Amino acid sequence: MVLAFYGYLGISIATLSTLGLMLGVYAFRLKPTRSRLQRDLKRLASVIPLGEFLQKDYAAPSVVQYYASTTFRDYKLLALATGSIAMHSLLKPARSMPYRCGHLKQLLYVVAQMGDAVHGGKVLEVGFGKGANSIFLADLFPNANFLGIDVVEEHVSYANDYGSTRGLTNVAFTLDDASTPSAKTMAEGPFDLIFGVESFCHLDSEEKLTGFLRFARQCLKPNGRLVIVDGYRSASFENEPEEVQHAMMLAESGFRIRAMPSKPSWQLMASTARLTLVDDVDLTPEALAFWTQGWKVAHVLLLLLPWAVRAYVASSLKHAETGANFVSVATTAYAMALGSAVYGVLVFKNGS
Ligand SMILES: C[S@@+](CC[C@H](N)C(=O)[O-])C[C@H]1O[C@@H](n2cnc3c(N)ncnc32)[C@H](O)[C@@H]1O
Repeated sequence: MVLAFYGYLGISIATLSTLGLMLGVYAFRLKPTRSRLQRDLKRLASVIPLGEFLQKDYAAPSVVQYYASTTFRDYKLLALATGSIAMHSLLKPARSMPYRCGHLKQLLYVVAQMGDAVHGGKVLEVGFGKGANSIFLADLFPNANFLGIDVVEEHVSYANDYGSTRGLTNVAFTLDDASTPSAKTMAEGPFDLIFGVESFCHLDSEEKLTGFLRFARQCLKPNGRLVIVDGYRSASFENEPEEVQHAMMLAESGFRIRAMPSKPSWQLMASTARLTLVDDVDLTPEALAFWTQGWKVAHVLLLLLPWAVRAYVASSLKHAETGANFVSVATTAYAMALGSAVYGVLVFKNGS
């Protein structure tokens, strides 16, 4: 009897290990190709009603609902993977580095533009999430003053509490919408630097972008800098095949964004606001390496457990927002690999 039990146990462990190994080899070799995209789009459509995604208008309440449901649940997975509360892509440099700092690499581009801000100047962060970026920088530059604005109340209280527990007095977070900044935020200027990491993508219409750029022009010091670290629709988006465009549109919708501005549209609209482009860095390969890892998990789940994904997403409104995240994770790598999305940094200065 005992022998039979151990026999079954041994066979089960051996079978599971072999299956695990086969899955690992399959996942290791996976690449986000166009033929796989077509199959994944069909599988996605069978578990989540994608039509609704593409029809919705993602105004502020949708964005707030998405983050209020996911920041303290789904993004915890990211925090576990990166060891940081930053809510943005982990960059993976082509060559391995002797330290793990991919989740903060974005900030090097912000630090490079600090200029006089380090000697008592003012910095504004747009869309701070849990406050990781400004809190890190406030610690690094004790003489600079940091203010963050965000549309999610839970983010404001979390970040203010976190800043206080770190004993920082040069950083504060407040509720405001970057597309229609309040008089109170304007009165905090002029700023030496305005920056955002993966938050300006939410300025998804000409109206929102114009509202923000008008504010930036008014509230940046002459020669002050605007640093945008983000994903963008590629310049070739309109010429990409339909399903490649579709991958980007689904990625955007999952993040509750209608259409991310492209780099050329940023440049055009910024120049109208008399902001001049001074740097343009492409980080797509590094961001793609990160998003490919998430995509592999989503791809395998769609392949092996579509019923479980369908049941989970349908079980509550909060889970539906996780479903939205899942759609983005399942499609972003395709968009970046196949040409409808890029990732990188734009730096503008106030004036010519
Ligand atoms: C992907 S998270 C990035 C958070 C943070 N920048 C980071 O790197 O950890 C995007 C953030 O932008 C904020 N956001 C979205 N639309 C916004 C708007 N119109 N004005 C200000 N913040 C906004 C969201 O609430 C969210 O906190």
